[in-house]
Amino acid sequence: MTEQDHHNPSIDSTTETTVGLGKGLDVGTANLAAAVQNDEGGITVNVERNAFLDIPSDVYSKNMLTKLKVPYVVHNGKLVVIGEAAFELANVFGRETRRPMADGLVSPNEQDALPMMKMIIQKILGEPQVPGELCYFCVPAESLDVDNNVVYHQGLFESMVSKLGYTAHAINEGHAVVFSELAENDFTGIGLSFGGGMANACIAYKSIPCLSFSVARGGDWIDKNVAGVLGVPRSKAAHIKERGIDIRDPKNREEEAVAIYYRSLINYVLSNIKTRFESGENMPNFNEPIDIACAGGTSMVGGFIEVFREEFAKIDFPLPVGRIFRSEEALTAVAKGCLVAAAIGED
Ligand SMILES: Nc1ncnc2c1ncn2[C@@H]1O[C@H](COP(=O)(O)OP(=O)(O)OP(=O)(O)O)[C@@H](O)[C@H]1O
Ligand SMILES: [Mg+2]
Repeated sequence: MTEQDHHNPSIDSTTETTVGLGKGLDVGTANLAAAVQNDEGGITVNVERNAFLDIPSDVYSKNMLTKLKVPYVVHNGKLVVIGEAAFELANVFGRETRRPMADGLVSPNEQDALPMMKMIIQKILGEPQVPGELCYFCVPAESLDVDNNVVYHQGLFESMVSKLGYTAHAINEGHAVVFSELAENDFTGIGLSFGGGMANACIAYKSIPCLSFSVARGGDWIDKNVAGVLGVPRSKAAHIKERGIDIRDPKNREEEAVAIYYRSLINYVLSNIKTRFESGENMPNFNEPIDIACAGGTSMVGGFIEVFREEFAKIDFPLPVGRIFRSEEALTAVAKGCLVAAAIGED
């Protein structure tokens, strides 16, 4: 999957003839995405599922993969299909893919899956344009609701991205949304990323993050709960959620369940921002109303922003807020934000 954007205001048009240095990498539970400046001075984002499938290495399986034109590698005596191809193949054969990450971090149950993630990342990032080219990659903020180890996760990717020939630099995921969506606001405002494993929030003032946190609830949390109450597999729940429904207007019991958990997720994230902001010290004074930018695959459901605004209106938010909007490219905004941060050389 490739998306092009020729209108990014943060990229200087005078650099149009030369490809800019620096890359952005979104390390996500559901998707891995790499943002690169293209020849036209715009941004190209390559996205792959963060998933793989391993198949016993026998003649029959090899022939099958060759016939289906599915690319594979041989790893530890098994045939391994990675990324989008793994996802498609799993669907055809009614299998589940293996996923290297869960709840925003490298999964403790899939430690041996790191080489698969490295292969996918190598594929989407490509070679560095110069040795030691900067690559900003996103990491989640510490979670409020689960005890997770972001330091270990960050270290693993620092090492992986360095081994691919880049100078690796971690940036918080919500902060990346601020870089991607709030350039016109001088990088001041709230960036929210609603992903597969998590929701990440960051409040920034003139590009400096004042408050960042995550909650271990995202698309997977909605799928798990919807599957539970409806008695269906999680993949079916994900399908209901992604098939183009509108959570303001659920058409049946299944859609109703999705809508209920969406509202709950949004309310949970908003209440946490409110509580954290009220109890936070050294918060800057926002005299002007600030904007809230939402991104991430989970924000793509129909009616998301409208429900977000409804829930926002119900709570007494401690800050003056102007515009509440969703990124036009919700799935790739984080990767773009990482690239923008790399281009600016932001710490
Ligand atoms: N059209 C859609 N409607 C609703 N949900 C969607 C849609 N498309 C994708 N999703 C959901 O978006 C989630 C993946 O989003 P995204 O790629 O932003 O997550 P991620 O960055 O990989 O995860 P995280 O940031 O939590 O580590 C999945 O739960 C998927 O079901
Ligand atoms: Mg994400």
